[in-house]
Amino acid sequence: MLSRVAHLESAFTDTPTAVLVTEYRGREHHLRLKYESFNPSGSIKDRTAAGLLMVMDRQAPLTPGTVVVESTSGNLGLALARQLAEIDCRLIAVIDPKTPPATRDSLAAAGVEVCHVDSPDGFGGYQLTRLERVRALCAGNPGYRWPNQYASFANPWIHQLTTGPEIVAQGGPDLDAVYVAVSTGGTLAGISAHLRSVDQQIRVVAVDAEGSMVTGTAPGRRHLAGIGASRPSAFLTPYAYDGAVRVGDAESIAVCRILRDDTGVALGGSSGCVLRACLTELAGDQPPRSPLCLCPDGGDRYQATVYDDAWLTTVGIAEEVRLAETRLRNDGLRFQNG
Ligand SMILES: Cc1ncc(COP(=O)(O)O)c(C=O)c1O
Repeated sequence: MLSRVAHLESAFTDTPTAVLVTEYRGREHHLRLKYESFNPSGSIKDRTAAGLLMVMDRQAPLTPGTVVVESTSGNLGLALARQLAEIDCRLIAVIDPKTPPATRDSLAAAGVEVCHVDSPDGFGGYQLTRLERVRALCAGNPGYRWPNQYASFANPWIHQLTTGPEIVAQGGPDLDAVYVAVSTGGTLAGISAHLRSVDQQIRVVAVDAEGSMVTGTAPGRRHLAGIGASRPSAFLTPYAYDGAVRVGDAESIAVCRILRDDTGVALGGSSGCVLRACLTELAGDQPPRSPLCLCPDGGDRYQATVYDDAWLTTVGIAEEVRLAETRLRNDGLRFQNG
């Protein structure tokens, strides 16, 4: 019998890339951006959701009425909600105050039961509090199913199978560096497994948030959704990446705003981190010649956060963002669509 989730293989898209021409510190560079916002629910997590559900269905069929529970910063929730609705299953999404308002509204509009946690976990975020709530929900409801994006092999597997090969094909023969944001680390682990298997020379760079425990050791307050975590990744080994760059909230947001002002392209905060990390290396001693930046989502869901002055003031980083923008402009940063 054909699995009810067979259609999930087409639940995400072969996402497009475009060249971005950048001036920074007196040099011109050409970066390739891969836009995961073109996926059906608007982020890279359409891929992860499809992988997780395919594997869950293999383990025990996802029959109509099945309730799936997951901890999410928002994007995976939107992707799971969309795909579960197609097979008449239901999602309970455990989210926290960093989930952007637009994402919260979209989850509610999709009929998702949203469970908010608001106690910080003591490691710069709310991830551990969210996971505690998921465990409590599953313990009290034995029928609930938890994909567990933090531990399921399906997470890196789907990126090894899809995102990695797309990057190699689109990056072309000159591709020499790939920049990937990390939270669970699944995206990076899967892409890296593919890249390592086809070309050992392509540099893989993990882009993390300052204060995150994925590649760092000192927890700190973080405001951006989707990037960073309160504990190390279950998927990443030192072999998976050649370097890690940690980017602060203000630097990421400044880059997002400059890009939007120069080109009209609005990206999410984790993409801002990825671009910032790439710029740092482009200004370094051994700049990549043909880098690709994986952009996990677009700016649409961050209009009330990353792109909102009032929000920057509320979280106390308005001045820091203003200074970062000024500094980057003084360093000659300009973007132009290629
Ligand atoms: C916007 C955004 N960027 C980056 C990531 C990081 O992906 P991963 O969890 O595979 O490390 C996520 C994951 O939720 C995300 O939503």
